[in-house]
Amino acid sequence: MRLIFLGPPGAGKGTQAKLLTERYGIPQLSTGDMLRAAVAQATEVGKRAKAVMDAGQLVSDEIVNEIVSDRIDAPDCAKGFILDGYPRTVPQAVALDLMLESKGLKLDAVIELKVDEAALVRRMENRVAETVAAGGTVRSDDNPEAFKRRLTEYREKTAPLSEYYAGTGQLKTVDGMADVNTVTAEIEKILA
Ligand code: AP5
Repeated sequence: MRLIFLGPPGAGKGTQAKLLTERYGIPQLSTGDMLRAAVAQATEVGKRAKAVMDAGQLVSDEIVNEIVSDRIDAPDCAKGFILDGYPRTVPQAVALDLMLESKGLKLDAVIELKVDEAALVRRMENRVAETVAAGGTVRSDDNPEAFKRRLTEYREKTAPLSEYYAGTGQLKTVDGMADVNTVTAEIEKILA
């Protein structure tokens, strides 16, 4: 199974992707996690991406397209994968279409999680509070200024993907305001 999770920052893409990973035995491909790993390892990509990510802006299409194309070729993706946070612009969606076609692969579904902006801000604040309470490291883009920018980037560059995938007939929308288990159940109904 090959899925895309679409949605604004804090919509629950990562949370739901992780749950489905266990259920379907396919990996979660989070471009955010991959980029954060590159930053932590100070690779060339990481050095280029760090300031952009810290400011809440999108990394270049060229960088993420290459990362995803390489990752899809890994043996653990043979049975499928869940794309979490990619594509995030229409040019990335076009690149993904070409990438999949060239590898002889097809998408099964594009699932969009809909969540109000006020709830997204509260979720980010909760995540920060929980991380601090657990003695962890808060994400460098989980602060009010960067989060506002992430929402603006979403509205301007990612939201148009709903129309793109509605046009291909692949878009399914789920109410992401519900609790985690209810959202998972709705997604599983779509995939059944
Ligand atoms: P990325 O890591 O993808 O972050 P994001 O999209 O901003 O999303 P989040 O991880 O904050 O949210 P999520 O939707 O996964 O929600 P989560 O499950 O964590 O990207 C970070 C940066 O990397 C970007 O800004 C950009 O710079 C760069 N980047 C990444 N991909 C890129 C690309 N393709 N192109 C260019 N640049 C790219 O949940 C959030 C919180 O809410 C958690 O605390 C969770 O416990 C809670 N929660 C989840 N579900 C529920 C629920 N149903 N009810 C209540 N709480 C819930």
